[in-house]
Amino acid sequence: MIAIGCDHGGVNLKKEVINHLQERGFEVKDFGCNGEKCDYPDIAFAVAESVASGESDKGVLICGTGIGMSIAANKVRGIRAAVVTEPTSAGLTKEHNNTNILCMGERIIGTVLAIETLDSWLYSEFMGGRHQQRIDKIAEYEEKH
Ligand code: RB5
Repeated sequence: MIAIGCDHGGVNLKKEVINHLQERGFEVKDFGCNGEKCDYPDIAFAVAESVASGESDKGVLICGTGIGMSIAANKVRGIRAAVVTEPTSAGLTKEHNNTNILCMGERIIGTVLAIETLDSWLYSEFMGGRHQQRIDKIAEYEEKH
């Protein structure tokens, strides 16, 4: 399952992303918002906790820039969230960082580029090896602090 959420700055792109994911056969759980003004941390924490707990396999967060969502989501233990604006970085952040949440900004990228960026992330594979060792260091730091 893919957890998805947005604030009022990302509601239009979120609809496009949900349609795209469902057309591709993914199960989606929408954590809001529905267009009303809201605070991005509330949505980011709900999506991030769904991913961190294992309820969802991965998550997508959308706000105006994607930046606030990524800052908040990365406060949740076990979350590796990245804000990206194009497919190359999206693919690499799965291959190297094994990101479990993708953040995008509706005010930054258009729908077509956002969907290509999302697909690059969804269909890339974590490479493991030396990259696992680096992720382990982040997890160790989280455990100690
Ligand atoms: C909301 O106006 C805006 O601040 C938010 O969507 C996001 O861009 C924050 O990072």
